[in-house]
Parts: sequence; structure tokens; C-alpha cells
Amino acid sequence: MAQAQTISDSMRVISTNSEMSQACREAVKPIGLVPTMGALHAGHLSLVDRARADNLTVAVSIFVNPTQFGDKADLEHYPRDLEGDLELLRRHGVDLVYAPTVDEVYPDGFDTWVDVGPLAEKLEGLHRPGHFRGVATVVTKLFNVTQPNRAYFGQKDGQQTVVIQKLVRDLDMGVELIVMPTIRELDGLALSSRNVQLSPEQREAAPVLYRALCQVHTLWMNGEHNGDTLRDAARELLRAEARVDLIDYVSVAGMMTLSELKRVDGRAMASAAVRMGSIRLIDNIILE
Ligand code: PAJ
Repeated sequence: MAQAQTISDSMRVISTNSEMSQACREAVKPIGLVPTMGALHAGHLSLVDRARADNLTVAVSIFVNPTQFGDKADLEHYPRDLEGDLELLRRHGVDLVYAPTVDEVYPDGFDTWVDVGPLAEKLEGLHRPGHFRGVATVVTKLFNVTQPNRAYFGQKDGQQTVVIQKLVRDLDMGVELIVMPTIRELDGLALSSRNVQLSPEQREAAPVLYRALCQVHTLWMNGEHNGDTLRDAARELLRAEARVDLIDYVSVAGMMTLSELKRVDGRAMASAAVRMGSIRLIDNIILE
């Protein structure tokens, strides 16, 4: 307890890239970075705790990145709670918090983008054009500012982890990526900052997304290896839930290529995205 207090007292909150770069240059290595958009929950904190266990310095970024949002209203409604977030990060022993403004990250005249190619045009990328360009660009900038030895991401955003792995490899970034399992509510719903926006009725219905993916897993374990049959089974479950307004996609795809599989023999990712009213939920599980 006394030690936690000492750690928490020394947490620095930094808003400019020059100060953050300097703090990271001077910090004891290794540095573990956890990039976030804030409104922190136990999913984010599981990454922070792992980073704390692995590294001598833990840095967390909190930045609601406008370039990865296609929809202005979605960006405006994205939950924010900087004070609450800082309190949680203090309690979890974080050393450095980087919370820049939009102008700090994207000053006037900003014009250089990181495009990861076809991987970014599938699944989420198909339904959110430009999303991964925004993610890859901001993650590149965060890596440049903090120069982390390791960076932590959640399996919850399955395609994002694949895109960032490719980014790091293609651009020789030399950052070790650690992907942590999805943290869920007791009823299976993956924790997400967006869950607070669900109405009580939507919240009650939302676990159908995980149930549909579990159904794919069960069928696959029982020997069903036909990709279309697996995708159809999930779609059927989702369609049966009246509060699911739209199914953006159901996918059973290769882990690295994210291409839809005709036959699912090896490791694969089953993922889906649905809309409930104006809220979009995504989830995935690994078939292995
Ligand atoms: P954000 O949605 O805030 O998520 C930050 C990190 O927490 C991501 O790596 C995400 O996968 C992980 N995460 C979210 N929910 C989780 C859960 N239930 N269990 C485990 N991990 C979870 O992802 C982003 O922000 C942004 O795209 C970002 C990478 C910060 C770039 O702007």
C-alpha cells in the first residue's frame, strides 16, 4: 500500500510531444506503452497491469484520435473522463501519461499519413473507410514520441492488432507488441468504452454478439470446417435478436491475411460487427 502510494505520487501527466519525448529519453528502460483513447475500463487496465509487470517505466497515452473516426457525431459522443482516467492510472502505478490536444498531434499543415495497404481495407476497414490509416498514423506518432521497447494492445480489436503488427514489421519499428486477451462482462459482452451508450434493453441484448462467435467456435470444435456454414450459423443467431438493427459483417478469416476462409483447418479469427441503434459493437474469438 505504501509502495503503491509512492508510485502513484510520481505519475507525470504530459501534454506536449517535446516534453513527452524528453521524459521518455530520460526514463529507465525498458518502457512499456499502452495507447488508449481514454474512458478507461478493466480491459485497458489489464494492459496497464501487464505493462507494469514487464517494464521499468509504464507510459499510457490518452488521445481520442479524430482521424480514425469517420463519423463526426461518433467522435463528438465518444465518452471522455480524463480526471477519472488519471485516478485509475495513478492507482495502477503508471509513470507517464501522455494526453495531448488534437492540435499538438495534428498541427496546421499536417500532411503525412501511414497507409498499411489491403489489410486495412477488409472487415472494419470496409465499413469504416480511413479508420486504419488514422490508427496507423497515430500509433506511429505515439511510437516516435515515446520510443517504447514494448507496446500493449487488446485482442478485442483483433484487426487492429494485425494491422499494427504489419506496420511495425514493414517500417522496422523494432517495438515488441504484446496482445492481451479480451476482458468481458460476466454475460460475455466484451468491455468497451462504448458500452455506456447502450440503453438498458440494448445492453441486455448485446451479449448475443459473443454468443454468436461462441457458436462458431463450438461448431468448429465439433468438426464443422466449412467457412460459409460457420458464418451462416453466427448470422442466424444475430438475426434472431430483434435489437440488432444491422449486421455489418460476420467473418471467419485467416489470422494474418484476414481473408475469408472457405475451409477452416488451421488457426482463424471469427469476428463480427453489429449495430444497435447508433452504437456499433465489434468482437472476435480465435479458433484454435
Ligand atoms: P481504445 O479503444 O481506447 O483501446 C485501447 C486498447 O485497449 C486497445 O489495444 C484495445 O484493444 C484495448 N481494449 C479495449 N477493450 C478491451 C477489452 N475488453 N479487453 C482487452 N483489451 C481491450 O484501440 C484504441 O483505443 C485506438 O485505436 C488506439 C490504438 C489507442 C489508437 O488511437
